[in-house]
Amino acid sequence: MDLENYKQIPNSLEEHWMPFTANRDYKENPRLMVKAEGVYYTDHHGTKLIDASSGLFCSPAGHSRPEIREAVSNQLEQLDYVQPFQQGYGGSFELARLVSQHTPEDLNKIFFTICGSSAVETAIKTAIAYFKAKGEGHRSHIVGRERGYHGMNIGGISVGGMVANRKTFSNILMPNVHHLRHTHLSENKFVKGQPETGSELADDLERIAMNIGPENIAACIVEPVAGSTGTLVPPKGYLKRLRKICDKYGILLIFDEVITGWGRTGEPFASQAFEVTPDIMTMAKAITNGVVPLGAVASKEKIYDTIIEASPSGAIEFFHGYTYSAIPVSMAAGLAMQKIIKNENLFQRAKDMSPYFLDNLFSLKDLDIITDIRGYGMMGGIDIRFDERPGKAGYACFKKLFEAGLSLKATGDCLIVAPPFICEKHHIDEIIEKLRKGINLYMKDQ
Ligand SMILES: Cc1ncc(COP(=O)(O)O)c(C=O)c1O
Repeated sequence: MDLENYKQIPNSLEEHWMPFTANRDYKENPRLMVKAEGVYYTDHHGTKLIDASSGLFCSPAGHSRPEIREAVSNQLEQLDYVQPFQQGYGGSFELARLVSQHTPEDLNKIFFTICGSSAVETAIKTAIAYFKAKGEGHRSHIVGRERGYHGMNIGGISVGGMVANRKTFSNILMPNVHHLRHTHLSENKFVKGQPETGSELADDLERIAMNIGPENIAACIVEPVAGSTGTLVPPKGYLKRLRKICDKYGILLIFDEVITGWGRTGEPFASQAFEVTPDIMTMAKAITNGVVPLGAVASKEKIYDTIIEASPSGAIEFFHGYTYSAIPVSMAAGLAMQKIIKNENLFQRAKDMSPYFLDNLFSLKDLDIITDIRGYGMMGGIDIRFDERPGKAGYACFKKLFEAGLSLKATGDCLIVAPPFICEKHHIDEIIEKLRKGINLYMKDQ
């Protein structure tokens, strides 16, 4: 096979150890994508598949945007790489300025990372560094939440709450981490939007604080809407209650907005949708429309000022950063995405399409194999009835959906639906029709 043909069919599937993939099963019958445009992928058989999860929540503006392609290509011609330590490049300052116009209140200090996982590690380290700089080094405990997903590094899996991601590494997780209970009550099955009940689950933070001493807790980190475990929507009042408890005890609130950020809720960030401002916020994915890896952490000005002012002038204030922090190509993609967001009023599009999307998603309720549906904004989760072991039903269903011409993400036994914001109503119709078809194919095999 000549070199060019790897784009269609690789010479060998053996050497690439694929992430979060059933490698043996995949390599027997690979699903290779060769093209992406708008809201469609094309696989190596030439079959068109509709993208029902925006890649991995990455591509709200649709695929193959010429604006981003051109910006990245022009950037590569001009300045391909610059070391981000003690040197700079104008694009990062401009993107930070634009990002800070979307973040709530004074979360105006933007630290660029490589991805969502590195944004989470950065957020945790920022909280710890802040308290050290303030002379409150005793604040070293972090509170996360069950069913939370915060990426795959040690900090992220420690504060996260997905057992499959944690159990192999249980003996090397970060110390001093505690978990709130997750927010999905069984009485809230098939509730569209925010459930009425369950806000008292936020009081878990106070219980933990009373157990170890609130003065020892640095931060509480949650996804405003838990994305990877299938759109667990916070009960009404829950996030406000969490904010109140943090304020009462001087605990920093971190929102991990890697999925919910950049319009998924119909507002720039979930923070604005739920009217709760965290102290630190992470983001990634859609910040470049998924085209180039990039994450970011937005911190309140007082956090930045405290850390900066704790060091003498001329000294590095925060010993943290990555080789690929704010590299020119990611900044160019981010800047181009900012233009798209503005010119196409992308967040408003998501907000306008959300009721149609959710109504149609919930119309699948009649399928016997579905045990729960949840949704908010342009994100939804469908639980498939458990079969033998966790993930078996979800994966089998995912394969049938692929057969039916639909690409999405399945986590465990949950199908994650998060359409691009550029979807028209007929695209939503197609997604729902193919979900029904694929789930029916799966049911026939049972
Ligand atoms: C809420 C949240 N945080 C962090 C991450 C990790 O992001 P990445 O895969 O870019 O490292 C993800 C990824 O899905 C996420 O959903």
